[in-house]
Amino acid sequence: MSTSPSPAPPASWLPLDLLFDNPVFAGGAGLAGLGAAAAISRKLVGTGVSTLKRRLLLNVEISKKDDSYEWILKWIALPRPQTGFITSRLTRVNQMSMKTARLQSKTGQGQYNFFLQTGYGKHILRHKNAFISVNREKQSSYNMQTGEPHETITLTTLYAHRHIFEDIFGEAYALARVAQEGKTIMHTTNGTNWQVIGEPRKKRPLNSVILDAGVKEKIADDVKDFLAMQEWYVDRGIPYRRGYLLHGPPGSGKSSFINALAGELDFGVSIINLSERGLTDDRLAQLLQKVPARTLLLLEDADAAFVNRRKMDPDGYNGANVTFSGLLNALDGVAAGEERIAFLTTNHIERLDEALIRPGRVDMTVRIGHATKYQAAEMWDRFYGDIDEDGKGRERFLSRLEALGLFGDQLPTSTAAIQGLFLFNKGDMNGAIDMAEGLIPKIYEAEVAVGVKTPA
Ligand SMILES: Nc1ncnc2c1ncn2[C@@H]1O[C@H](COP(=O)(O)OP(=O)(O)OP(=O)(O)O)[C@@H](O)[C@H]1O
Ligand SMILES: [Mg+2]
Repeated sequence: MSTSPSPAPPASWLPLDLLFDNPVFAGGAGLAGLGAAAAISRKLVGTGVSTLKRRLLLNVEISKKDDSYEWILKWIALPRPQTGFITSRLTRVNQMSMKTARLQSKTGQGQYNFFLQTGYGKHILRHKNAFISVNREKQSSYNMQTGEPHETITLTTLYAHRHIFEDIFGEAYALARVAQEGKTIMHTTNGTNWQVIGEPRKKRPLNSVILDAGVKEKIADDVKDFLAMQEWYVDRGIPYRRGYLLHGPPGSGKSSFINALAGELDFGVSIINLSERGLTDDRLAQLLQKVPARTLLLLEDADAAFVNRRKMDPDGYNGANVTFSGLLNALDGVAAGEERIAFLTTNHIERLDEALIRPGRVDMTVRIGHATKYQAAEMWDRFYGDIDEDGKGRERFLSRLEALGLFGDQLPTSTAAIQGLFLFNKGDMNGAIDMAEGLIPKIYEAEVAVGVKTPA
């Protein structure tokens, strides 16, 4: 081993001792050192705390897109028993936000339901023996379709208390079930997404919709048979879908029947109005891919798509409305949801194309026509059965309608018109008989007035 003299230090190089002898430098280095040490220790503490947090705490994040979001929001806002002065002050939810739901009212007037729900920000609550921190926040990202910011709720508790979540979700779900019992949830479209319309509606009893003899049973039995055959379809690799087409004049009870049937099956309803402007083929296809589970898909005004069938521009743009091929593709394209019960309605079956009536698209076509004598009698019984004990009033009413020619093809009246007459004469059957002339369709009266028709 040989030693060689170390090279001379460069001119700019100074021994460290010399530097520290310099009081100005020493003060600065000391400060910088302290700062660095503080930063490192802060970082270490920070990392330590976050590691500790990760190990000791459990976070559950729920996105607004998840079904449980609304349940949990309602669960958090529940009044809780106040235990102890400090706990009760610590666990009060002080930040609330208002949720207003518009209820559907028969009179057409708005009815509103208000309730307070947990607002944005952090809250602490106590459930059984666990403290839970709740953080409801809006994210900076947006849903491109609706323009609404994404939202989450994060529930945090001690890892040791993780089993409390099963309890919380169980309670929140049970709460939602009770609130929805006897109700039908209606979904409508918002961009390419589905959203619940207002509060769940009270179920409409199936027997409140009066169709011609046997029609309701025929459809309801078919749907029930289909629901019982899921395995059969799956085993054979056939998409588990069934379609119904209900056609007939306005006010014959098509939509009412579908809503009542959904209630009977304990299903919700997902409605798309095919005549809606802005409903493009793409949007329809996307919506049909994710129809909410356990709902009947209701495609209203199916004829709208047929009016549009030749409207494709040379550049391939289909315009702002759904087209015939768009509807067919959405119904049976590869992308269409695998499980589905769809009801299509129309007032103009003559405008539809044969191609629609194909298994999987439409398996059953049913006409829901103008009011028949059978329906008028059944409706009478529902409204006046209790006061018309001997049925004489019903006989007079039916004879009057017959005399007016309302059961023939010439002057057909609608079940909606009969219901309107009965509602106007609630509890007054003679009033209903006296006003029966009002059931004559207005179009007919207009035609007589201008001399197109002569009175019967
Ligand atoms: N057959 C019926 N039984 C009981 N109510 C009926 C019947 N038909 C119509 N109505 C009443 O008339 C109103 C309109 O009925 P509905 O909306 O179901 O008719 P629709 O056939 O869907 O009409 P449209 O073709 O215009 O959509 C509802 O309030 C409904 O209660
Ligand atoms: Mg309708």
